[in-house]
Amino acid sequence: MSTVRIGVIGAGIMGADHVNTLHCHVSGAVVTMVADIDVERAATVTAGVPGARASGDPHALIGDPEVDAVVIASHDATHAELTVAAVRAGKPVLCEKPLAPTTAECLRVVREERQTGRRLISLGFMRRFDPAYRELKEAIAAGGCGAPLLSHCVSRGVSSAPGATDELSVTGSAVHEFDTVPWLLDSPIEEASWHAARSTGTITGLRDPQLMLLRTADGALATVEVFLNAGYGYDIRCEVVGERGTLALAGPARVITDTAGARSLGHPADWRPRFADAYRLELQAWTDAIVSGGPCSLATAWDGLVASTVAEAVITSMKDGGRSVAVQVPEV
Ligand SMILES: NC(=O)c1ccc[n+]([C@@H]2O[C@H](COP(=O)([O-])OP(=O)(O)OC[C@H]3O[C@@H](n4cnc5c(N)ncnc54)[C@H](O)[C@@H]3O)[C@@H](O)[C@H]2O)c1
Repeated sequence: MSTVRIGVIGAGIMGADHVNTLHCHVSGAVVTMVADIDVERAATVTAGVPGARASGDPHALIGDPEVDAVVIASHDATHAELTVAAVRAGKPVLCEKPLAPTTAECLRVVREERQTGRRLISLGFMRRFDPAYRELKEAIAAGGCGAPLLSHCVSRGVSSAPGATDELSVTGSAVHEFDTVPWLLDSPIEEASWHAARSTGTITGLRDPQLMLLRTADGALATVEVFLNAGYGYDIRCEVVGERGTLALAGPARVITDTAGARSLGHPADWRPRFADAYRLELQAWTDAIVSGGPCSLATAWDGLVASTVAEAVITSMKDGGRSVAVQVPEV
């Protein structure tokens, strides 16, 4: 196989972005189909991709003979069902995070893949491909700052999506950190607790910001702040405190502006510019692995199950006064 014919499910913000990245920046990838329950939205996206067809039926896309591999970028609640359908069709699938909002659904997906005896599922934990995060991981492993003791992770956005809830802050946003922390520190998360400060008045009923405390198996602590309505921009931070020094992501911008008596660095409006390189590198690695039939370096369904298990422990803590909850990854 020299090119992969890709079908993308979900033509919202992320689906449209993935279609554009695949079409313009990923060699060996051809987008042949886009499906969304809102077929007009799918058609708007395919309008920019010559030869691609639009559909209102994600299952028709999965079964289509001109689709070799599937990207799932529809709402979180659809991920498990659609990923299982792609696995049953024997097609490689890149599912956006989370694999599913609950551990039980993730387990069903992991078991379904195991039965095939093949690695078909990849998960969109794209920070693993972000050049800055990779450099941070390499610097931790190089050991100059000593063994990691603490990490401080911050995810801030301009405003929450309609329908945001306390739980969705965890399963939709903090879940990135539940994959990033063990990947960076090379130790699984064993314990989690959830806390909320006085909330911003922007959205009634939503506790925002939220703070989570994680403990890894080798005894490091991580704080995770998720603030969906921070207002000022999209801002991702990570600092790792080691025994002999600290390492942190630089940013938020590559260019410094000096004007009108002040120095400033811009913030992106959302995640797309911040992680554009990560999405491109992730999609290229996925496509290359399908073309070559070689190993795939993306996060696995198991990684998705582990991250959603941490999310579930955090939500248990949320509903139980912020007590520490053990993270128990189920047997597959
Ligand atoms: N990796 C990341 O950095 C990142 C960033 C943002 C969003 N995401 C994930 O990407 C996914 C999409 O997020 P978004 O911001 O694009 O949301 P969105 O609301 O903009 O788009 C979702 C689209 O899915 C469609 N849809 C819903 N159910 C469907 C179904 N059964 N079949 C086909 N289409 C269906 C909707 O009509 C909508 O067009 C979510 O799972 C989200 O968590 C990941």
